[in-house]
Amino acid sequence: IKDTADDVSLWAALYVKARILEAKPDHRKYFVLGLPTGGTPKGMYKELVKMCKAGELSFKYVKTFNMDEYVGLDRDHPESYHSFMWENLFKHIDIHPDNVNILDGNAKDLKEECDNFERKIVEAGGIDLFIGGIGPDGHIAFNEPGSSLVSRTRVKTLNKETIVANSRFFGGRECDVPTQALTVGVQTVLDAREVMILICGSHKALALHYAIEEGINHMWTVTALQQHPKAVFVCDEDATLEL
Ligand code: GLP
Repeated sequence: IKDTADDVSLWAALYVKARILEAKPDHRKYFVLGLPTGGTPKGMYKELVKMCKAGELSFKYVKTFNMDEYVGLDRDHPESYHSFMWENLFKHIDIHPDNVNILDGNAKDLKEECDNFERKIVEAGGIDLFIGGIGPDGHIAFNEPGSSLVSRTRVKTLNKETIVANSRFFGGRECDVPTQALTVGVQTVLDAREVMILICGSHKALALHYAIEEGINHMWTVTALQQHPKAVFVCDEDATLEL
């Protein structure tokens, strides 16, 4: 528990930096990161960019896999997760574009796209550190309430609450938020060697309470992490109101 959201961002960035540096000091193998979008991780990305620009960190031997992407948005749409990632992180760091993996929400065959994504994760040797956020309803990635806790990457229809929550990125117009997304499954996240979840703000307090203090429940998909051997929740004081 950190005092503020800024403290969460800095702590998370330092954690990522330490993992990248300690895991592959000789740069012979790639470090594999799972990455989220949303308002919460933006501060962490800013810190990582600063570290890169200061020469303290390199992404040359890092591969990334993003959690999710909207279906039907052009990849260059300002609110696509593709745009988000390039704007907030990738264009500012030394990662090779071939090492960036983001689901294509416009693929002709969405099922094939999802299956390929899972295959690419396996080929990369699995995810070393999966970083995530959660929705106010406790969803990880776009694993909406009711998702199977052994799910894998697939198409998901977004629920009303998520569409309302994400409409702030679409000028408040709910009708402009895509109704479907491609998302890694709960099991895809559980398969990572380590998981770090960032949670900030009082609107996430109930979800954090469920995540930590209630039982495993597919209506709050983040609770599945209780079974992960190495999961850390990093949150600000506001998010702890219900603990
Ligand atoms: C979306 C994403 C989630 C993210 C959540 C919270 O639903 N699919 O991966 O965790 O938003 O976003 P924010 O950090 O903006 O609250």
